[in-house]
Amino acid sequence: MQSFTHITVEGGGPLEGTVPVGGAKNSVLKLMAATLLAEGRYVLSNVPRITDVDLMSELLRATGCTVARDGLLLTIDVPSEIEPVAPYEIVEQFRASIVVMGPMLARCGEARVALPGGDDFGPRPIDMHVRGLQELGVEFETAHGYIHARTGNLQGARVLLEFPSVGATENLLMAAVRAKGITVIDNAAREPEIADLCELLNKMGARIVGAGSSTLTIDGVDSTDALHAATHTVIPDRIEAATYLCAVGISGGEITVAGARHEHMTMLCQKLGEMGMRISHDREGIWALANRRMMSTDCQSLPYPGIATDFKPFLVTMLASSDGVGIVTENLFSGRFRYVDELRRMGADIRTDSHHAIIRGVGKLSGAPVRAHDIRAGAALVIAGLAAEGETVVSDAEHIARGYDDIAGKLNGIGGKVSYR
Ligand code: UD1
Repeated sequence: MQSFTHITVEGGGPLEGTVPVGGAKNSVLKLMAATLLAEGRYVLSNVPRITDVDLMSELLRATGCTVARDGLLLTIDVPSEIEPVAPYEIVEQFRASIVVMGPMLARCGEARVALPGGDDFGPRPIDMHVRGLQELGVEFETAHGYIHARTGNLQGARVLLEFPSVGATENLLMAAVRAKGITVIDNAAREPEIADLCELLNKMGARIVGAGSSTLTIDGVDSTDALHAATHTVIPDRIEAATYLCAVGISGGEITVAGARHEHMTMLCQKLGEMGMRISHDREGIWALANRRMMSTDCQSLPYPGIATDFKPFLVTMLASSDGVGIVTENLFSGRFRYVDELRRMGADIRTDSHHAIIRGVGKLSGAPVRAHDIRAGAALVIAGLAAEGETVVSDAEHIARGYDDIAGKLNGIGGKVSYR
């Protein structure tokens, strides 16, 4: 457990060396949820030491599982009967907990999940999760702040998602694994984390075809014993990798992000190339060189394989010191520009207009006290501080611990001057 509330960054010179990337937060949380589908002992490796994993562990414990960590290994013992409830105290702390609904329905025919609240980047409805599950024969009732989902029998169906929602695709996948007959999810999300989930589910005995594409076909297994526990290694975190690549874009220097998978972030690497970075990759990871001031560019967030909305704070931060004007458009989450006010406090020249940000590069930013509103925005402020004049103190930095396993240690390993408080 990382416990700090502030991160202090001393602005300095170029970054140099090798930084390792950890397991993907957005994958491991769903892999952990998937274990609820069948009794037995699961061993997940490459599990990052982040708060969201601790919260998901708590959630699994609340259902009756035993969860133990040993370094980067997580062992989950799932009992023969689980309690299909996700309590409010846990759900309110992290929204990803909604993905336990699919596996609980598949295992128990019901799920009681506290309604997730809003968060710092706009409302995040779950209407697509609900509509898709209704197609599979699930009925919903809402009372006392909980959604109660119930089904007599999950039935395979064709579900067309109106938007390739990551969470809705995952919930549907995990329910469909135990439905009677074939389920086809059309316009499914294609994120690498979903392919990782499909891989674990297939190891557990599921029959899913099309992982990583926009059409997922699931041939349901309708007997309880057809699914079993498995072991799995979590894929590397492409968002963490993007953080370090953009950090070098801002500070200059030459780094290797060890373990990063270029094929999971091709579009971002292309964009960084346009801005003037040299990037190459091999089986060990991604190498990046930034030996001059970056040039501004325009970009927009889109579902995978487009530029992820989670990369955007890093790109905005890079643009804040680049040469020229760039327009960044957010297409997924309406309120995801709050960190811009913080960057302005560091001297950035950024104007926002609904889901657009217009960024005029100012050269060097100036260190200042700033506040982290969420995981990625917080990390963006840390990397902004690396190249800023003087000291930057990021408060509410516990948000960063939700998704980064020792960000200070890793940045210090490549020449940063970052500390916790
Ligand atoms: C996941 C990621 C998050 C990432 C996002 C988009 C995790 C834990 N989080 O979030 O880091 O930024 O994917 O890549 O994996 N929507 C609806 N109705 C729904 C579901 C979603 O309107 O039922 C909307 C959302 O409000 C949002 C868009 O669809 O505007 C994308 O959401 P979704 O892909 O579901 O994101 P998450 O799974 O919540």
